[in-house]
Amino acid sequence: MNANQLSQLLENEESEDIPEYPRRRRSLAKTEKKDLESLVLFTSLSRKSKKKIKKTESVVIDEILQHSNPSLVGDEQTFSPTFKSSRHERGWIMEYLEPFFKQQMITDVISRVKGGKEANVYCCRAFPGLGAELVAAKIYRPRMFRSLRNDSLYREGRIVLDDQGKEVHNDKALHAVTKGSAYGKELSHTSWLGHEYLTLERLHAAGADVPKPYSSDQNTILMQYLGEEYQSAATLNEVHLPSRSKAKNLFDRMIHNVDLMMANKCIHGDLSAYNILYWQGEVLIIDFPQAVNPKNNRSSFEIFKRDLTRLCQYFQRYDIQSNPVELAQYLWKKHGYNTMMIDSNTDWNDNGRVLPE
Ligand SMILES: Nc1ncnc2c1ncn2[C@@H]1O[C@H](COP(=O)(O)OP(=O)(O)OP(=O)(O)O)[C@@H](O)[C@H]1O
Ligand SMILES: [Mg+2]
Repeated sequence: MNANQLSQLLENEESEDIPEYPRRRRSLAKTEKKDLESLVLFTSLSRKSKKKIKKTESVVIDEILQHSNPSLVGDEQTFSPTFKSSRHERGWIMEYLEPFFKQQMITDVISRVKGGKEANVYCCRAFPGLGAELVAAKIYRPRMFRSLRNDSLYREGRIVLDDQGKEVHNDKALHAVTKGSAYGKELSHTSWLGHEYLTLERLHAAGADVPKPYSSDQNTILMQYLGEEYQSAATLNEVHLPSRSKAKNLFDRMIHNVDLMMANKCIHGDLSAYNILYWQGEVLIIDFPQAVNPKNNRSSFEIFKRDLTRLCQYFQRYDIQSNPVELAQYLWKKHGYNTMMIDSNTDWNDNGRVLPE
């Protein structure tokens, strides 16, 4: 390779989309005439190392914003959310909510209901015809920027779902999940969200008090919103119920929901007053990605008992006394699940695992 060919090669590479690379390239070009051999060596090393350059979060956001030219939809409408966010957040909104705008499911993003480590929830205006005025959009943070909750306890016995919500059978892909490679983690992330969506679908169809799911993609779930514009429903732990009898009605309703979920092979797995929305007497149980099937997970009875314990503890403040362990055993047997699991002395939990708080 001569110097001309080399500079041609370098010029071609200048256009590539790797942020740190052009800066390096300039300093490289200055030395061009000095030592051709070392330049060629350097170039090949640069090529190798540039593959390893990780894009920072802000670079990714810049790219999203650059590529999210307002697109034309229907009669020339553009996606221009009312909600004013930081540049950083706007990146997520454009990338993950614009597709729902294009599919004519939402027309606007009104406010951020809550932002957390795992997901942000937004209140959106629904497209006329969707059957609701407002919808909630839960955007999971993309796996690479999200602090992953330790989900191995809940994953046991669960099928892996792809981005279409279909079971993954491919051995290599399943091995990647077990191994925890980058691809495997990506698949786990998609599967985690897929389980939340499918669980909502199943439980909503069964008549449980859960948000109606409308649509989802790799990072987002669109579902029924509880609350009104600029005021979302509180979580039950933030509410003061007006009387003991109202609290008792609500307690009975929650137990009815748990019963219904058990009939549909579903244990919430993180049930507490923090995951129950309350709005003018209406309730919705939310946040299902970790839901487990009582038949497929060796820790399922322990998980179930913990759910009921937290629920009963909350209602104690209204002087509603109950025995969560007996209740758990009763419902477990009622639905015909393996009674061996109820005996805490059996060693089915042989990994020595303890439930996280
Ligand atoms: N359908 C909905 N309608 C109204 N508000 C909602 C809805 N879904 C979620 N929210 C709001 O968003 C918050 C977070 O939702 P969710 O619990 O599903 O996500 P999360 O990432 O698990 O958050 P956290 O870690 O706080 O539990 C809820 O506490 C509630 O305030
Ligand atoms: Mg939650």
